[in-house]
Amino acid sequence: MDAKEIKPSIYWVGVKDWNLTEFHGYSTPHGSTYNSYLILDEKITLVDGVKAYMSKENLARIASVTDFSKIAYIVVNHVEMDHSGNIPEIMKLAPQAKIVTNTAGKMALEAHFDTAGWEYQIIKTGDSLNIGAHTLEFMTTPMLHWPDSMMTYVKEDKLLLSNDGFGQHFASDALFVKEAPFDIVMENAKSYYANILFPFGCQAEKALQTAGDLGLDIEMIAPSHGLIWSGKDEVGAILGNYAKWAGCGNEGKAVIVYDTMWGATATMAEAAMAVFQDAGIPVVKHCLAVKNVSEVMVDFLDAKYVVIGNPTLNNQLFPRVAGFLTYMHGLQPKNKAGLAFGSYGWKPGVVKKIQEVFDDLGWQSVEPFEEKYTPKSDVIERFQERVRELIKL
Ligand code: FEO
Repeated sequence: MDAKEIKPSIYWVGVKDWNLTEFHGYSTPHGSTYNSYLILDEKITLVDGVKAYMSKENLARIASVTDFSKIAYIVVNHVEMDHSGNIPEIMKLAPQAKIVTNTAGKMALEAHFDTAGWEYQIIKTGDSLNIGAHTLEFMTTPMLHWPDSMMTYVKEDKLLLSNDGFGQHFASDALFVKEAPFDIVMENAKSYYANILFPFGCQAEKALQTAGDLGLDIEMIAPSHGLIWSGKDEVGAILGNYAKWAGCGNEGKAVIVYDTMWGATATMAEAAMAVFQDAGIPVVKHCLAVKNVSEVMVDFLDAKYVVIGNPTLNNQLFPRVAGFLTYMHGLQPKNKAGLAFGSYGWKPGVVKKIQEVFDDLGWQSVEPFEEKYTPKSDVIERFQERVRELIKL
């Protein structure tokens, strides 16, 4: 349980949660890490903690390079429990340490924990803190993705400790992106963005702008989940993709999402797919019986067209479709064109509930399409004509 040096006198003291398969609804087949960093200097500084249940490992790594009584500052970039869960335990071992956070961070810490006796240094964007040979510069990134979220830049090392930003739920032997297959790491960064940061594209664009305004020259990005981006090429690649994803991608792709009971909606999904293929539009199709919602959401980053199909069950949305709609609605993808379709046995109308989500998200759309029981060839032709109307939007 040793600390690992990532820059001279700056150590990774985080933990790897190999067994994590789910993160509040987000499927995490590769596990995750909670990265915590320790800077050895005149004023020893810890940046971020870990989940409470993995505290022992974090504490052992810290203890391998310093004594807790020597820690002067604990920077809390974000109060969500995966980064601050063990801060109370650390504060018991290092009661002399001052918490460095922003106003929203202090409020959130006080709302979560018994913080009696804790001392704070409250920062805002542009503030800096000299800890000896290192200067920490701070950038608050409110709602990226909590009100308290912020990032810490170590000026002399051109190192951005970015917390959730640029992270990946990806546990591996590696510590750096360059030690792992690049495409797989980037896929996981994209999945992370789609499932955690999707609603906050404006805030992501603003953070990128602020980093530019502050003149941050970034050569390494060490997030609080996953692997560390190092070197101008890797840093440029992840910053470039964030700029693209924050703009909601929209590479003109089509995404078909459906579930099925006796094959009717599956047949219609296949018919919709054929229309997109004939039109030369890249298309992916996800059946919710076998795909996790978080896997589906990644494709929404690139999609212009969204087609969602529901098999009516007891005059309601099918449960997996309802669950997907709730998850997708919360992530608030913008600038899409939607078509809701479905099948029913006794009573039509449920498909309007999908349309209501499209309307609430402000999407363009065409009239929903529903058919009783099994769609015959004439129905398929009318449905495909509706998909062609969608493509014209
Ligand atoms: Fe990784 Fe918002 O916590």
